[in-house]
Amino acid sequence: MAEVYVITGGSGGMGKAIAELVGKNGTVLLADVSEERLAQSKEELNTKGITDVHYQTVDITDRENVKALAEKAASLGKLKSIIHTAGLSPTMSDSKRITEVNLVGTGIVLDEFITLAEPGTVAVCISSMSGHFVPKQGLYTEVLKNPLAENLVETMEQMAKGDPGAAYSLSKLGVLLIVEDQAWAWGQKGARIVSVSPGTINTPMGRKEAAGQPQMKVMLDNTPLGREGESMESATAVQFLISDAASYITGTDLRVDGGTTANMAKLQAAQGR
Ligand SMILES: NC(=O)c1ccc[n+]([C@@H]2O[C@H](COP(=O)([O-])OP(=O)(O)OC[C@H]3O[C@@H](n4cnc5c(N)ncnc54)[C@H](O)[C@@H]3O)[C@@H](O)[C@H]2O)c1
Repeated sequence: MAEVYVITGGSGGMGKAIAELVGKNGTVLLADVSEERLAQSKEELNTKGITDVHYQTVDITDRENVKALAEKAASLGKLKSIIHTAGLSPTMSDSKRITEVNLVGTGIVLDEFITLAEPGTVAVCISSMSGHFVPKQGLYTEVLKNPLAENLVETMEQMAKGDPGAAYSLSKLGVLLIVEDQAWAWGQKGARIVSVSPGTINTPMGRKEAAGQPQMKVMLDNTPLGREGESMESATAVQFLISDAASYITGTDLRVDGGTTANMAKLQAAQGR
């Protein structure tokens, strides 16, 4: 039976790079909002020799869409991995929509795909170094862990005070906490769940943020490796995490940020913040 790799945000920068790697091992199912961009991504992958590629238009905030995606995945074979990269960054939308896509969307994707999990399945959620900049303690952590709670979006709006940057960081901390919280449930199925926290990565989103947010230059200036990352450098981290080489790794995060998070923490401590 074919092993299926589902990639949300499949026509985005990281999604396509991941598809290029995992497509060498099995069937790829790309999911994203635009049919045209999905068809283009399939073409690009075909040109690179990745031929077993399917796609489906999905808004990950729509439960019925995600359910249909899971059904499509099941029809193609055994779920090897759900790689959830779909997301919106602070300059892309308002705080409410950012919460809906990054946090509620993650909750829906995991909820629908855990039903397909079996021994060997791995879920990977893309968080962000921004999630590491928010303190991991506090009452809000209980809120963030429950992305499908009825009043989640309203509560988040109060916490982020309508600021897209705050909504983004909180939603990405949420992704880290959800992965820790759900390790048990996925483990019960013999499956693993992990997150990856990219730093500044050269994708359409990364370029948009670099152009629109002065803070991004501060990050780059404080990155030990002295440069931004390439989408393939996050893709290889995902490839490792879903491989058997990572068979005892679950419920945790891997930062792929050139050391930015470590160095920013040091900087803040030195500044007494
Ligand atoms: N690029 C960076 O610098 C960076 C840094 C940290 C974290 N990230 C995270 O990495 C992930 C991938 O980002 P990227 O750089 O590839 O960005 P990207 O914008 O190139 O790709 C994201 C994709 O998600 C899709 N998407 C957005 N909303 C959706 C929805 N409701 N339903 C389905 N698809 C939707 C977009 O259409 C897009 O194709 C995101 O979660 C992002 O927050 C990126």
